[in-house]
Amino acid sequence: MHFKELIKSRYSVRSYHENKVDRTLLKQVVDAGIMAPSAANRQPLKFVVIDDDKIMEKIHLAYPRDWFCKAPNLIVIYGNHQTSWTRQFDNKDHCDIDAAIATDHITLMATDLGLGTCWVCNFDPKLIHNAIPCDDGWEPIAILTIGYPTENKIPDKKRKNINEMLSFNGW
Ligand SMILES: Cc1cc2nc3c(=O)[nH]c(=O)nc-3n(C[C@H](O)[C@H](O)[C@H](O)COP(=O)(O)O)c2cc1C
Repeated sequence: MHFKELIKSRYSVRSYHENKVDRTLLKQVVDAGIMAPSAANRQPLKFVVIDDDKIMEKIHLAYPRDWFCKAPNLIVIYGNHQTSWTRQFDNKDHCDIDAAIATDHITLMATDLGLGTCWVCNFDPKLIHNAIPCDDGWEPIAILTIGYPTENKIPDKKRKNINEMLSFNGW
């Protein structure tokens, strides 16, 4: 898919067919995340792909929405604030930015492969830690649902007008 078409085709998919995504494809989308840039190339990220229903059920407790619980696969994107790059002038930690770029790469690669995704950040992180015990320092930053969309009509993008968001040479 051409890039323009790809970015227009990606949207938040909240209705999926039941069938699970093949691990080869899941690896391919995660590889797109790994190819993403990160501040100082620290790559403070880890991607936990879930295709086991028992673990999936535990994750559902962290975001108990009907559509989320019906998604066939999940990818939990973790960041490590201890290894991410911090700007010396104001100590701004860039972990979340790194995680966001990688997650976006994954969503675009998934779209290119005919898959749908939806970002979820409104989950209870404690319950994700219960579902997937992880090493110290790691935080679940985003969860992506991933699967085959039930609809093939791309909804209209509700976006602000470019004039509200763009200016040249000043605020
Ligand atoms: C950082 C981030 C967090 C989000 N968290 C949630 C969420 O918890 N639940 C949800 O249903 N959608 C979530 N979304 C999806 C947004 O609602 C969606 O991207 C936005 O409405 C624009 O629609 P589109 O993705 O279809 O273009 C999130 C998106 C982003 C980028």
